[in-house]
Amino acid sequence: MAIVKSGILDLSRREKRVKSLSEKSIVVTGGGSGIGAATARLAAERGGRVLIVDRDEAAAAAISESISRSGNVRYFIGDISDPATCELAVAEAIDQWGRLDILVNNAGGGRLLPTEDLTDEDWRGMQAGNLDTAFFMSRAALRPMLAQAAGVIVNVASVHGQVGLAQHVAYGAAKGGVINMTRAMALEFAGRGIRINAVSPGVIRTPAFDVAVGEAGAQAFIDLHPIGRLGTPLDVAKAICFLASEEAAFITGTNLLVDGGFTAQ
Ligand SMILES: NC(=O)c1ccc[n+]([C@@H]2O[C@H](COP(=O)([O-])OP(=O)(O)OC[C@H]3O[C@@H](n4cnc5c(N)ncnc54)[C@H](O)[C@@H]3O)[C@@H](O)[C@H]2O)c1
Repeated sequence: MAIVKSGILDLSRREKRVKSLSEKSIVVTGGGSGIGAATARLAAERGGRVLIVDRDEAAAAAISESISRSGNVRYFIGDISDPATCELAVAEAIDQWGRLDILVNNAGGGRLLPTEDLTDEDWRGMQAGNLDTAFFMSRAALRPMLAQAAGVIVNVASVHGQVGLAQHVAYGAAKGGVINMTRAMALEFAGRGIRINAVSPGVIRTPAFDVAVGEAGAQAFIDLHPIGRLGTPLDVAKAICFLASEEAAFITGTNLLVDGGFTAQ
């Protein structure tokens, strides 16, 4: 037992020393909460210089404050469903760090909506919040990345962009769009030094999940995952930071499922 324990400790110490994103300039959208916050924190721990982009100032400030004790982080406040705001966010990263190496398009989210009650506003809002955000940020980031002839984009999609779920019509369409936008964009820029990939999480235990579902409802969601638990924000952050790093130098146009076996069934 003592040997196993010391093995785990050694591994976690070694993991902390990994500086796979050393000196990289990184933008994480939606970095004020959940998966984005975990990604911003891990990217900073791995040596990155992180700009959190979020519309929630209190959340972005709080996460930045806690990361800044050990890492290099700034934040920018704005709603990135607006293309002009995306240009400003990218300009802020360049102002802060002189270049933009990695963009993580994480901002977004969905809720179950019965299709017959889905309003025009609901539909458009879901596309704007999940697909427009990723496209507008990518377009803004591609210009400096092309000038550098180097860059990485990681899009956060969802298992529901790959498999259907009743009442997730608008969200599924938006995340399916993110996955195929990833493939098309990856092909367009593969020969110009830019890699573009997606991750598709299963159900992740975020603070919002605990508020919406709680302990009592959690088991039904756990049962969807053959691994026998929900994902954590850190599970997804690790996949994002892997795809963003040189470890993934030969990977582009892929959709990495981070879903505990959800879609393998
Ligand atoms: N949590 C899950 O179970 C799960 C599963 C699959 C995919 N995802 C995807 O992962 C991503 C993150 O999810 P989460 O659960 O961590 O979300 P979250 O709600 O905890 O955090 C999202 C953050 O993004 C910000 N944001 C949202 N829209 C924005 C906009 N237009 N402009 C600026 N900031 C904006 C919010 O203010 C918030 O801080 C989303 O794209 C979501 O669809 C989540």
